[in-house]
Amino acid sequence: MGVTKSGYAVSRAQWNRLAARFNSSVCDIVAGDRDRVVDGLVEVALKRRPRPVVIDLGCGMGTFIRRYGRRFSKSIGADFAERMLRGARRRCAKVPRVRWVCSSVEEAPKRVGEMADLSVCMNVLTSPDAALRRRQWKALGKITKPGGCTIVVLPSLESSELVAQVEEKLRPGSSGARSGDGTVVNRGKARQKHYTRKELREAAERAGFRVVKLVRVPYPWKDEGVEATKTVTRGRQPWDWALLGARREK
Ligand SMILES: C[S@@+](CC[C@H](N)C(=O)[O-])C[C@H]1O[C@@H](n2cnc3c(N)ncnc32)[C@H](O)[C@@H]1O
Repeated sequence: MGVTKSGYAVSRAQWNRLAARFNSSVCDIVAGDRDRVVDGLVEVALKRRPRPVVIDLGCGMGTFIRRYGRRFSKSIGADFAERMLRGARRRCAKVPRVRWVCSSVEEAPKRVGEMADLSVCMNVLTSPDAALRRRQWKALGKITKPGGCTIVVLPSLESSELVAQVEEKLRPGSSGARSGDGTVVNRGKARQKHYTRKELREAAERAGFRVVKLVRVPYPWKDEGVEATKTVTRGRQPWDWALLGARREK
């Protein structure tokens, strides 16, 4: 469970390989958002800007653009994995006014400029490398026009602690496999940065955003590989954090 030289826990080559089975994998936020939390955040962002332009950084297979692209005057899907982009282009063939850009989050402002009325970045800013994450947050701020919005989804540390507690109840001694160092958690074969509510708020503020909403996006226990019963979970579900931020005027 290493980190590549460039700071990625999952390299671009690995994401390219994952592209083949991404449709059936669990990390597609919009597809798994049964409570339609993201819908609500998009509606708020759309109300704030006329004829908005959206960029989805780390767009994966393009599910966000497929669902919401028609609501924007222009959409850009950016990802550093070419095969992801190819899949996204195919899945979004019927969505008008979309441009696809092969770029890392960090390089995206240089490639496309300060252009977004809405920037979207879902489960991408999770590298264990703090310096890389800082560059990525900065890029997110830079690419968003002053007065524009961002929607960021990230793994929750509080949720990860809940999952560990439930795993421990079901199979005593098993939850240790998750614990990494501090806020970096072992998840499957990768180590991923997880955020507390407070930390996420602070990171967004440092990147130049005022926090408008910070809410949970619940997902099923099976996505954590846990066969949990109601008696053990007491109705609780694991969740990601979703943040809607407004870019401060300069
Ligand atoms: C967990 S998936 C999320 C995909 C999509 N945002 C979603 O929620 O369904 C992460 C995606 O981000 C891309 N990615 C990871 N790190 C990146 C980076 N530094 N720059 C650009 N894309 C990146 C991967 O190739 C992958 O498509």
